[in-house]
Amino acid sequence: MPNIPPKNENPARTILVTGAGGGLGRGLSLCLAQQGHSILATDLHLDAAQETVAQIEAAGGRTQAHALDVTSEENIQSFVSALGESRIDVLVNNAGLQHVARIEEFPVEKWDLLMSVLLRGTFLMTRAVLPGMRAHGFGRVIHIGSIHSLIASPYKSAYVAAKHALIGFSKTLALERRTRTSRATPFVPHIFAHRSWTRRSQDRPARAAFRRTKSSSV
Ligand SMILES: NC(=O)c1ccc[n+]([C@@H]2O[C@H](COP(=O)([O-])OP(=O)(O)OC[C@H]3O[C@@H](n4cnc5c(N)ncnc54)[C@H](O)[C@@H]3O)[C@@H](O)[C@H]2O)c1
Repeated sequence: MPNIPPKNENPARTILVTGAGGGLGRGLSLCLAQQGHSILATDLHLDAAQETVAQIEAAGGRTQAHALDVTSEENIQSFVSALGESRIDVLVNNAGLQHVARIEEFPVEKWDLLMSVLLRGTFLMTRAVLPGMRAHGFGRVIHIGSIHSLIASPYKSAYVAAKHALIGFSKTLALERRTRTSRATPFVPHIFAHRSWTRRSQDRPARAAFRRTKSSSV
C-alpha cells in the first residue's frame, strides 16, 4: 500500500470489516486505513487477517486482526463483548463465498453454507453491533451485495438468492434505523478479479457453463 497522505476530511472512524483476509475485504481495509480510519480486520482465517494487518501497518495505518466466523453467534457475541466500551462506528458485511452448480445438483450443505455466511452472517453481525452504535449515537452498516443482488446468472442459485435477500434486509434495516446518525447501505459491485474466483474458474466442473454465461461474476 503506498504511503499517500489521507484526502478524507471526515473524522477517523473504527471500521470492522468481515472477510478482511482477502479479495475485496483486504482491498477495502487498505483503502479505509489509508483514509485514516482504524480497521478491525476480521476473517474466518486469522492468518489471512494478520496478513492484511501487516500490509496496513507497513504503511503506517492503525489496525488489529481478529479471528471471527460470521456464521457463529457465539463467536460474534464473545468478540463484541471483548470489545467492551470500544466503539464500532462502521460495519462492513463483506465475508462471502461462491458455489456453482445446476440446481438439481446443488449440494444442500453448500446451499446452507452460502446462506449461512452471506445472509445469516450479515444478520448476526448487524444485530450484534447495533446496540453499541445506538449507545454511541453513530453508526453505518454497509452490506457488500453484488450485481447478483439485482440480476441472476445460471448455476449460482444460492448466491443469487442470498444476494437478492440482502437488499431486502438492507431496506428493512434502513427503515428501522433511519436517523441522522444511522444508515444502512447496500453496495453492489460487479465482477472483479481475485484469487479465489480465478481458482474457481479454472477447476470448476461447470467451467464450460462459465464460458457460455456472459455474466459470471460472484
Ligand atoms: N469477486 C467478485 O467479482 C465479486 C463481485 C461482487 C461482489 N462480491 C462480493 O464481495 C465480497 C468479497 O468477495 P471476494 O471476491 O473478495 O472473495 P474472497 O474469497 O477473496 O474473500 C472472502 C473472504 O471471506 C472470508 N470468509 C469466508 N467465510 C467466512 C466466515 N464464515 N466468516 C468470516 N469470514 C469468512 C474468507 O476467508 C475470505 O478471506 C463477497 O461478499 C462477495 O459476494 C465479489
